[in-house]
Amino acid sequence: MSTDSSIRNPDHPLLAQANAEEGARQRFVLALKGHLGRTLRPRMHEVYQQQALPRWQAEQGRSPETEQEVAEALYAEPRYQYWSALARAAQEHMWLAVAAPIERQRESLQSQCESLRQSARGSLTLNPEVAPPRVLREVDIHLQPGGYLRDEGPQDIMAGALYEAGGNLYSQGEGVGTRESKADCAMRFLREWAPDFTPRRILDLACSAGASTVPYALAFPDAEVHAVDLGPGLLRYAHARAEALGATVHFHQADATATPFDDGSFDLVVSHNAMHEMSPETQQALFAESHRLLAPGGVCLHQDVPLRLADFDTFSRVLYRWDEFFNGEPCWSAYGNNDCEALLEAAGFDPEHSHTGLFAMLDNSFSWYFAAGRKGAASCNGTASQKSTARQQGAAA
Ligand SMILES: C[S@@+](CC[C@H](N)C(=O)[O-])C[C@H]1O[C@@H](n2cnc3c(N)ncnc32)[C@H](O)[C@@H]1O
Repeated sequence: MSTDSSIRNPDHPLLAQANAEEGARQRFVLALKGHLGRTLRPRMHEVYQQQALPRWQAEQGRSPETEQEVAEALYAEPRYQYWSALARAAQEHMWLAVAAPIERQRESLQSQCESLRQSARGSLTLNPEVAPPRVLREVDIHLQPGGYLRDEGPQDIMAGALYEAGGNLYSQGEGVGTRESKADCAMRFLREWAPDFTPRRILDLACSAGASTVPYALAFPDAEVHAVDLGPGLLRYAHARAEALGATVHFHQADATATPFDDGSFDLVVSHNAMHEMSPETQQALFAESHRLLAPGGVCLHQDVPLRLADFDTFSRVLYRWDEFFNGEPCWSAYGNNDCEALLEAAGFDPEHSHTGLFAMLDNSFSWYFAAGRKGAASCNGTASQKSTARQQGAAA
């Protein structure tokens, strides 16, 4: 098995090639983000303890108690302001740096996508009638220019190309998943948790550029694989990308909480890194829709970052919510505070056949959070299905 990041970020002809100047700019952003994230961010605790807290205590005559008070104290501190402003600027700069080669090669990338789609074994069904939720209409999630719904005409693939290029650059600095992708990790979990289970119809909800869909299609070549998202530019790119990687996938523009498929029409329904970008109502509806779509004995598996805010102290919760307020992640704490066991149960999954908890990647670089449920009375592996409390780790979206 490969030990480099090509497992997580496979090479294919739709990836724009950076020239020397663009490459240097991308390396600069990566180094800047690494410095801000790995060196300066951990020091914010010291900034809080040594400057923000004593100042607030002197002014108020007591210690801050609530999250809002801790945030007030921290946000007033110049060293935090400096870090926060730079972190925001670095994120904006990252998008500019990955957009440059894509913009330069835009026409040729679009025509390659067109020709891949013309000889496709999979399919693409767009439905402009589908209404996206408010979060996606109003926010450019993690500051991606134009957001997930960016759509500049019938051939436009910018949303997908940017999403993949941004993720590839970001993950280069993380050292996460050098031996398997998050979908491979999820499939390994499934083999342990439900060893008797081989899916024949698979649905990936909120697939974005299809990075997690493709591994399922390649691992289960006899299965029929479908994927939904709301962004047309994401889906055009995802479809062409899947074809370029030899995967047959049927992509649909649809809301993950109200898909056009019949009751019981899938035996595996998954999502990857989707919950943390959904409102509490959408998260609940995601589980309910998964239950509706599953045939008896079918499995839903929702994977996301290991952000369980209840396990954090107040200061750490405030620090983690930086992404919510300054990095276009409006649902970050709605996800971090959710109760996936309750969501599974409310959707109709029996707690005896459900699982929530962390599962480590093969290289032990990171653990993902999984919420899984099996519909009906089919059994799942007792050891892996024990509930586990999420250990806190840094999130790598
Ligand atoms: C972080 S991305 C998902 C990444 C992708 N699953 C992967 O593993 O590479 C989140 C995606 O959720 C999609 N999304 C959010 N709300 C949705 C909804 N209600 N229905 C369908 N897609 C949704 C967004 O358009 C976006 O593409």
